[in-house]
Amino acid sequence: MLKDKNILLCVTGGIAAYKIPNLASMLVKQGCNVNVIMTKNAESFITAKTFETLTGNTCMVDTFQTTYPPRIHHIDLATTADYVMVAPATANIIGKIAHGIADDMITSTLLACKCPVALAPAMNVNMFENPIVQDNIATLKKYGYNIIEPATGYMACKAVGKGKLPEPVQLYKYIEKELAFTHDLQGKKVLVTAGATKEPIDPVRYISNNSTGKMGYALAKAAMLRGADVTLVTGQTALEDIPFVHTVKVTTAQDMYNAVTESFATADITIKAAAVADYTPAEVAQNKIKKADGDANINLKRTKDILKELGNRKTDKQFVCGFSMETENMLENSKEKLVKKNIDMIVANNLKTEGAGFGTDTNVITLITKESTEQLPIMSKEECAHKIIDKILELKG
Ligand SMILES: Cc1cc2nc3c(=O)[nH]c(=O)nc-3n(C[C@H](O)[C@H](O)[C@H](O)COP(=O)(O)O)c2cc1C
Repeated sequence: MLKDKNILLCVTGGIAAYKIPNLASMLVKQGCNVNVIMTKNAESFITAKTFETLTGNTCMVDTFQTTYPPRIHHIDLATTADYVMVAPATANIIGKIAHGIADDMITSTLLACKCPVALAPAMNVNMFENPIVQDNIATLKKYGYNIIEPATGYMACKAVGKGKLPEPVQLYKYIEKELAFTHDLQGKKVLVTAGATKEPIDPVRYISNNSTGKMGYALAKAAMLRGADVTLVTGQTALEDIPFVHTVKVTTAQDMYNAVTESFATADITIKAAAVADYTPAEVAQNKIKKADGDANINLKRTKDILKELGNRKTDKQFVCGFSMETENMLENSKEKLVKKNIDMIVANNLKTEGAGFGTDTNVITLITKESTEQLPIMSKEECAHKIIDKILELKG
């Protein structure tokens, strides 16, 4: 994914510089070639030796440092970088870059860069809120620099507010988003559903199913990494939010129906991976049904068939993909579903197959369209997600 990518980290004189060796190390472990350059003031917080040890590359501080053979380092580093991140970015460096000043190694290199550049401002909250700093940030955005929002919290200067450098794992995700995959879904809106819906019986009990949301989340993440603008409508799951994905959390099938139909009209690709409970109590008991559950008479009604609704609404430009979990007659049942619901593709799996279905990190899927049936071997849910997207792009372009 990030293997052999050239990442240039620019470290400036803020206290949060201590976090960057961690980021450099994460990138090296992923097989990146990491170069680090620092300002003179950054040396008050961290040593070049730390970065040189972690990355195996010389950490440049002085633009005029002589090396053998002689090189113009700021131009070399700018032209070989696939991605540049300035973190932490001091108020000072932000001001200098915004105004085209090139009086140190970092600012000189940045002026020569053509690749994506992200800056992570990190400073005391009053410094960050200063209108001069805010104007400089706006100028950088205007010139196409990506600004990583600082986190809010307790700072080294004992103030509480906005201005903290996000943790290295968060910074890593910006680099992953930009470089991990070709952006073949750039400009596309992708709507994914995931997880299980919960239909309340009373304030304590509910009807649900065993879906963990792993497949839907893997699809949303894969689509995001491939450049799509992703909305994820999710029922119950224990999974962590995916950065850069607009996530709408719902409880019941009706909530999911409302959220999905709201976003559907503008979606180019919709993938329904959620396991919606087929039945919901006709009425939710206001008080918990008493002990003798056997006596409780719960009338059930069917929930809305979201996939069928999307099939009805679908235009020729849109692509709708559903999932089908079967225990027998998988192919026949899935093909019937495909036609009945007027959708473009069904991802089928047999719950009896080892490594397939809910909860597992793997899946064994068959991609079914009107024209073809393609059975794939067992693979991780992440790999399945990419195969599903590959197929959709092959069919829809
Ligand atoms: C202990 C200490 C911590 C500092 N932390 C920050 C900081 O987090 N963010 C910031 O913008 N400036 C911070 N400064 C001020 C910068 O170091 C100062 O503006 C310096 O000129 C920045 O130089 P540079 O941008 O060339 O690295 C700090 C200064 C000191 C003494």
